[in-house]
This record gives sequence, structure tokens and C-alpha cells, in this order.
Amino acid sequence: MAALEVRGLRKQFGGVVALNGIDLDIDTDQVVGIVGPNGSGKTTLFNVVTGVHPATAGTV
Ligand SMILES: Nc1ncnc2c1ncn2[C@@H]1O[C@H](COP(=O)(O)OP(=O)(O)OP(=O)(O)O)[C@@H](O)[C@H]1O
Ligand SMILES: [Mg+2]
Repeated sequence: MAALEVRGLRKQFGGVVALNGIDLDIDTDQVVGIVGPNGSGKTTLFNVVTGVHPATAGTV
């Protein structure tokens, strides 16, 4: 079991689907970056994983 497990994470802001089906397994010996274009959901992923925003579906 990874230190951080994310399964099927989805986040919608109204009609905007910011995250759709994110799966992650990150262990304590890993350093992981998130790369993507503007508006691709990087900050939303961080905020949902840390609990700032509730997920629409999926688990952390
Ligand atoms: N609080 C919010 N309310 C409504 N829509 C939001 C909200 N936060 C993000 N969004 C939308 O969700 C999508 C993902 O945005 P997000 O800010 O996560 O992208 P990002 O990858 O962090 O972008 P950037 O590289 O510009 O920081 C965008 O379409 C954005 O407009
Ligand atoms: Mg951002």
C-alpha cells in the first residue's frame, strides 16, 4: 500500500470537469511533480488531495 493512494478522482466545478479518473500511488521515498498546460487541473488535484476542496467522486 502506497503512502498516498488516489483512485478514480473526479472534480467538477459546475459543468467544468477539472479532474476525471485520476489514479496515483506515491510512496514516501518518491518525489513527484505535476506537469501540464494552464487550466489542466494541477492546482485542483493538489487541493482535492489535501482536502481543501471535496472530490466529486473517487477516493484519497
Ligand atoms: N474554484 C473554481 N471554480 C470554478 N472553476 C474552477 C475553480 N478552480 C479551478 N477551476 C477550473 O478548473 C480547471 C482546472 O483549473 P486549475 O486551476 O486546477 O488548473 P492548473 O493546471 O492549476 O492551471 P495553471 O497552470 O494556470 O495554474 C480550469 O478549467 C479552471 O477554470
Ligand atoms: Mg495552478
